[in-house]
Amino acid sequence: MYRLSRNDKCWCGSGKKYKLCHERSDEKILMPLKRAGYPIPPRRLILNAEQINGIKESAKITVAILDQLEDIVKEGITTNEINDFVHKYTIDHGGIPAPLNYNGFPKSCCTSVNDVICHGIPGKQKLKNGDIVNIDITTILGGYYSDSSRMYTIGEISDEARQLIDVTKECMYEGIKAVKPYHPVGEIGNVIHDIADKYGYGVVRDLCGHGVGLKFHEDPLVCHYRTKYPTMIMVPGMVFTVEPMINQGTWRGHTLSDNWTFVTDDKKLSAQWEHTVVVTEDGCEILT
Ligand code: MF3
Ligand code: CO
Ligand code: CO
Repeated sequence: MYRLSRNDKCWCGSGKKYKLCHERSDEKILMPLKRAGYPIPPRRLILNAEQINGIKESAKITVAILDQLEDIVKEGITTNEINDFVHKYTIDHGGIPAPLNYNGFPKSCCTSVNDVICHGIPGKQKLKNGDIVNIDITTILGGYYSDSSRMYTIGEISDEARQLIDVTKECMYEGIKAVKPYHPVGEIGNVIHDIADKYGYGVVRDLCGHGVGLKFHEDPLVCHYRTKYPTMIMVPGMVFTVEPMINQGTWRGHTLSDNWTFVTDDKKLSAQWEHTVVVTEDGCEILT
């Protein structure tokens, strides 16, 4: 629980003293939730307007890369060539590709093809007709992180692959609609799991969304599956990702011997979409 002194400036960025701004609503809304067992975010997770602007600047690079990849990702391109474009664009615009050397990750983005759930390492693989690929971009600009990913398709894909991609996108956007101040973050996963269940899809449990902005991975943990446990309360100024990974078959996956590539156990397809969002007074704003 963050305890500002009453004469401090309010965390919300209004410039007013805390006692004249959010103190009362914080006490009134958050204290009962805390007593009911819901974790309340510590102060460091509540970002101010300047920090959120920094993330928006960083996101301009991330979004421009994802946009340009729509034209670049075509049959015959290698995932290494995609990586080279991402790396050069980021550096040319004053940013740093966050994945490079992150916990030993060797490349500047993740390229996850077909049965790869996430953390695919760019390499010599040539994309071929019918492939689906998630490209995950995280940019650092001026110390601020923005994290987003999209699905790309090569040539003619199957109806089953198309449906998986579309439903996963719906999962992300419906999950984002569940981002509301003073609600538990677990409501995002409840919504996503309900949609996936309707199609018999598996919701990946091993990896979750995460706080982002000042660091690559931070609290809260944003699970995409259903939970009954009390999860952290969302408060205006919190920034995190919603990034459901949805499988055609089993939700279970395993890591390959390269220590990164995370694949489905049954070799069926997996899709993922990701946005970075900030909690606002009446919902959230997508930053990417
Ligand atoms: N961008 C991924 C995420 O959404 C994390 C990639 S970590 C890396 O959280 F090291 F593989 F790049
Ligand atoms: Co992420
Ligand atoms: Co990402």
